[in-house]
Amino acid sequence: MNKNPFIKPPVSIKSRKNPRGEYTNLNTEDLLDAVKQSAHSTHRGDLDILLEVFLDRYNARQDELDKINHSLEKQIKTEHKLARANQKRYEQQSKMALMGEMMDAIAHQWKQPLNALSMMSELLESDFDDGDVDAKYIHQYTNDTHLQIQHMTNTLSEFRNFFRPKLTKEKFTIGEALNSVMTLVKDEFIKNNIYIEVSKKEEIELVESKNELIHLILNIINNAKDAFNERDITDRKILIDYFTDDTNIYLAITDSAGGIPESIIKDIFEPNITTKAIGKGTGIGLYMSMQIAKKFHGSLSVKNIEHGASFLLKIPL
Ligand SMILES: Nc1ncnc2c1ncn2[C@@H]1O[C@H](COP(=O)(O)OP(=O)(O)OP(=O)(O)O)[C@@H](O)[C@H]1O
Ligand SMILES: [Mg+2]
Repeated sequence: MNKNPFIKPPVSIKSRKNPRGEYTNLNTEDLLDAVKQSAHSTHRGDLDILLEVFLDRYNARQDELDKINHSLEKQIKTEHKLARANQKRYEQQSKMALMGEMMDAIAHQWKQPLNALSMMSELLESDFDDGDVDAKYIHQYTNDTHLQIQHMTNTLSEFRNFFRPKLTKEKFTIGEALNSVMTLVKDEFIKNNIYIEVSKKEEIELVESKNELIHLILNIINNAKDAFNERDITDRKILIDYFTDDTNIYLAITDSAGGIPESIIKDIFEPNITTKAIGKGTGIGLYMSMQIAKKFHGSLSVKNIEHGASFLLKIPL
């Protein structure tokens, strides 16, 4: 007899002692064949058994799927946890690096008023000996010392505010954040002959963490400072400009430090990308800055211009 190879022979159920067991042993395709066969045969009663076998198989598969889902969920949770821990570590590392740099800045910031105060107190003594100290003198003296102490207190409180882990959102203007930045680093940048110019068309209000914006700006201008020094550049300018259009707020920070090396510019916002020696840089600064920009639902980009690098923070309105 000619057998058509495309037609499968019907599954034959030889023994009727344990039909359920026999059906259970079939693969799914043969099981379906058995259903068809049973529907047209005298063993129609088998349909119930077949249904049960199908249901059992379905339930077993469902259990397997549940187990897989459960273990996938667990895996995802563990990976999330790991990612969060990494993120925390980067944040910490970045703040610690900044803290080191800021300690230098604060030391400079304090040197000048401390010198002034010690000179003033020496003068007070000699002026007293000369009989020049009267009520007017004391009034002037108190004012002058007060100004110097105010400068030191401002620096210190900016410093403390910045390193306190206060990351809650608040209403502030970009100008206020820039004032904090300048209070923190002005003397350090003057000492390095770097001139920072701020220009704006209008004041812009944000509701975000002010400390995080300060962190982002410090990371960028500290990099420029490093580039000026590494490359011995004489014309040292940083221009900070902020403005809006219909859809976004922009903060542009442009330096004249020669630009980002082409070899790293594409990856510059990835962690651990640095051209600095061990101990001088970890390559976290710009990665952290990008994370902050993303937290603000914005983005950070960079391009090289004629004499330097230009960073652009863009935050949707
Ligand atoms: N304004 C810039 N001019 C030239 N090169 C820059 C500038 N900003 C960044 N770079 C380059 O990008 C690299 C990465 O900067 P990033 O701030 O991420 O790390 P880092 O400064 O090396 O280390 P860290 O900030 O962790 O101390 C720097 O090592 C430097 O080569
Ligand atoms: Mg840096």
